[in-house]
Amino acid sequence: MAERILITGGTGYIGSHTAVVLSQLGHDIVLYDNLSNSSDAILDVLQEITGKPIPFVKGDIRDTDLVIHTLKSHNIDAIIHFAGLKAVGESVEKPLDYFANNIQGAISLLKALQTQSINTFIFSSSATVYGEPQYLPFDEEHPTNALTPYGRSKKHVEEILKDLASSNPALRISCLRYFNPVGAHESGLIGENPKGKPNNIMPFIAQVAIGDREELCVFGDDYPTSDGTGVRDYIHVMDLAEGHASSLAFLENNTGWHAFNLGSGTGFSVLELIHAFEEEANCTIPYRIIGRRAGDIAEYYSNPDKAAKLLGWKTKRNLNEMCSSTWQFQKKLN
Ligand code: NAD
Ligand code: UD1
Repeated sequence: MAERILITGGTGYIGSHTAVVLSQLGHDIVLYDNLSNSSDAILDVLQEITGKPIPFVKGDIRDTDLVIHTLKSHNIDAIIHFAGLKAVGESVEKPLDYFANNIQGAISLLKALQTQSINTFIFSSSATVYGEPQYLPFDEEHPTNALTPYGRSKKHVEEILKDLASSNPALRISCLRYFNPVGAHESGLIGENPKGKPNNIMPFIAQVAIGDREELCVFGDDYPTSDGTGVRDYIHVMDLAEGHASSLAFLENNTGWHAFNLGSGTGFSVLELIHAFEEEANCTIPYRIIGRRAGDIAEYYSNPDKAAKLLGWKTKRNLNEMCSSTWQFQKKLN
């Protein structure tokens, strides 16, 4: 059933791809973002891709009155909450900023939702809530023991949502634990375009491939993994976006609090990722092995069975498609 959906953080990387998928499924979308890590220039691009204008409200999620006004004036049925700060290293330096934005922000949004008796809420969580693996693959029953302020902000919001769901049986809440989102829309018009030096590996590789950076530093080759480099469960951002559509459909028939892993179930090493990118971009990525990055985990990947069973969702796009779409986007950017 078509719904009217508020997407917070909607001009950001994952929010914008999700907006495309939901809009193309016939939902009415409203984007809400303070533009702290994105630009409203994307609105024209989204219109070009979807063929229709998407309403946008510039605002902070901590401005409860503006959120309430937006929910009322657009007659919103459901919220997908992407807005937040996401740089792990920065969260260690500025924990209060992360708690204020991510936790206080979520509380403000939830207070606004209550005033309008909106029951459906999807939260962008992260595999980082699990912390150091006690076993692999991570399933949703794995204990959550986030290791950084960023990770703890996700864990705390998940817990707040669980308590809220216990207090009101009408609520329908999904916490989606993303593994490593990468890639871009097939048009090459939207993708991940971090400000400054990228923290994450895929945009870094793309900037090396295009010649903006000299080489990739590989953070350690002495991990107990197949080739000694870190292993992650990379997920194509369009698969991830489709996971939100599946979650929305699931919540139509299910009340309560639910957590789902959104990942492929397969881990790839840094070297495997570099080689896949080289194949797709037909180039050589110069790299140098340096020491491990503080706080990095050797290896983790998802058990995606719960999402397959309950959401009817699984990833469709492989590592090479993640690299080729990233490359198409990077070429259009430069
Ligand atoms: P992004 O930075 O591209 O998008 C987040 C958007 O939220 C930005 O457009 C930013 O301007 C906006 N925003 C931040 N604080 C705000 C506030 N107080 N009020 C209104 N808008 C605000 O990040 P993304 O990669 O699209 O991530 C989206 C969500 O997914 C985040 O919550 C992030 O923590 C989570 N997540 C991301 C990853 C990843 O690797 N990208 C992995 C796991 C989870
Ligand atoms: C990081 C965050 C995690 C967050 C995720 C979102 C940390 C410690 N963790 O995860 O909380 O949910 O982003 O996608 O920051 N690598 C290099 N060279 C680089 C960059 C990365 O070798 O220049 C390696 C890393 O050591 C790791 C892999 O590439 O093995 C992936 O790194 P990255 O993209 O930063 O993601 P995560 O560390 O998994």
